[in-house]
Amino acid sequence: MKQRKPIVIANWKLNGGLDLICVSVASFIGKHFDADIAICPPYIYMRDMMTFLQFSELHIGSQNVSRFESGAYTGETSAQMLREAGCSLCLVGHSERRAMFGETNEGCRIKVQTVINHGLLPVLCVGENQQEREANITESVLYQQLHEGLANIELHDKDLCIAYEPVWAIGTGLAATPQIAQQVHQFIRTQLVELFGTATANRLRILYGGSVNKMNTRELLSQPDVDGLLVGGASLDPGHFLTICRQASDLAVA
Ligand code: PGA
Repeated sequence: MKQRKPIVIANWKLNGGLDLICVSVASFIGKHFDADIAICPPYIYMRDMMTFLQFSELHIGSQNVSRFESGAYTGETSAQMLREAGCSLCLVGHSERRAMFGETNEGCRIKVQTVINHGLLPVLCVGENQQEREANITESVLYQQLHEGLANIELHDKDLCIAYEPVWAIGTGLAATPQIAQQVHQFIRTQLVELFGTATANRLRILYGGSVNKMNTRELLSQPDVDGLLVGGASLDPGHFLTICRQASDLAVA
């Protein structure tokens, strides 16, 4: 039995369409899960998804959020708008956004606080790249991402998730071993103790992401500090994603 309720989040990235939404949501209708399950589709499909959701336990998440509330910020979508669209969580600082769209730790910090203030769940993504792992500086990279990305964050007893996504594992088919995931998650929890105190750190969930599939789900989630999964490629196959969610749900109560 898991100490914290598992959470499984699908990150569709710039993929999918109405057909994928229909098939994905249909596969969840009428089913109960002992894990929290969310799908992050491209923004444009959120409302379409909402209309299908009344009969399932799925949550909708966003792949990004603006750091701004409103104003002359072309192309941005605010936390308030996401909330109104029915969204309940936001990914912040995914490595693709850090690498290709200039996201910084400081920018992530502002986004995390904005998301919390609007009553949504922020999922702060952190992780080292291949070079950093080879140079043995994984912990210092994560230290900086966490302490800068979460500096002075006011949680107000609200929820926050961290997603550990080693960049070398994303989309490569080379997932971290369960041992590496546990080791890093334990390090992350230690940082959460420093930032928020022991009680809060023990309550917050740390997800693993990077080439998660139905074959490695059980072993990854069996690690004591792996509380959830962030799934990219495998979530684009509705049957595959459902199998991952089922396993997470089973482990929650096993
Ligand atoms: P992947 O992507 O599962 O395709 O490796 C994970 C992610 O980028 O969130």
